[in-house]
Amino acid sequence: MKTVVLHGSPRKDGNSDTLVKYFLQGLRTSGISEIKEFYSNDLDISPCQMCGSCNKPERIELTPHNCIISDDMHPIYAAFAEANIVVFATPIIWGYMTAQLKTVLDRLEALASDRYFGHKTFVVIITCWHHHETLVAFFKRAIESYFKDVQLHTIIYCSWDQNSRNDRHVLTCNEKLQEAYELGRTVGKNMHIRIRKKR
Ligand SMILES: Cc1cc2nc3c(=O)[nH]c(=O)nc-3n(C[C@H](O)[C@H](O)[C@H](O)COP(=O)(O)O)c2cc1C
Repeated sequence: MKTVVLHGSPRKDGNSDTLVKYFLQGLRTSGISEIKEFYSNDLDISPCQMCGSCNKPERIELTPHNCIISDDMHPIYAAFAEANIVVFATPIIWGYMTAQLKTVLDRLEALASDRYFGHKTFVVIITCWHHHETLVAFFKRAIESYFKDVQLHTIIYCSWDQNSRNDRHVLTCNEKLQEAYELGRTVGKNMHIRIRKKR
């Protein structure tokens, strides 16, 4: 069982990274240990050029993705294609995911079929000050209603502290850390059941 984590925040060990950490701790209790993490802010990834190479029939089967752009996206394609569990983690900026994560997601267009997106469990971790609804709706529409046999879970943490009028790190919020940990445990347990059923 394999997991791929796509980190969207440029802030290492910030709120979304920390929630990923607790989610993965929970996941590991089920023996799921093959986990690949990618920090989009550290990678050299070009925006999708919408060239359509990934959809050209003559290129199909050359690689899982057929993308002709040569950059750091390629290890992500390989890890994503094999993963049973996919984690997207991002803060909200201007009401949406970070540009870094959106660039990765745009390039995942090259794998956008039931073969690579279907039958997976997706976990979306969103940290924000207030508005997250648009992004949750996006993931529901783009993943849950497009691909076969997928499961989508979300963790939302609003880090705006009214009193100090500042960001409140999620490490001060045990309830949220526990929620992430428990979701990891549940997703791990359910993944074993899903895989057993398929056999
Ligand atoms: C430059 C900047 C812009 C932001 N824009 C928004 C926004 O549009 N909406 C929102 O709800 N939160 C916004 N936030 C708050 C972050 O999403 C929030 O601090 C989040 O917890 C950061 O997560 P991280 O620690 O994983 O980076 C913004 C924060 C910064 C620093």
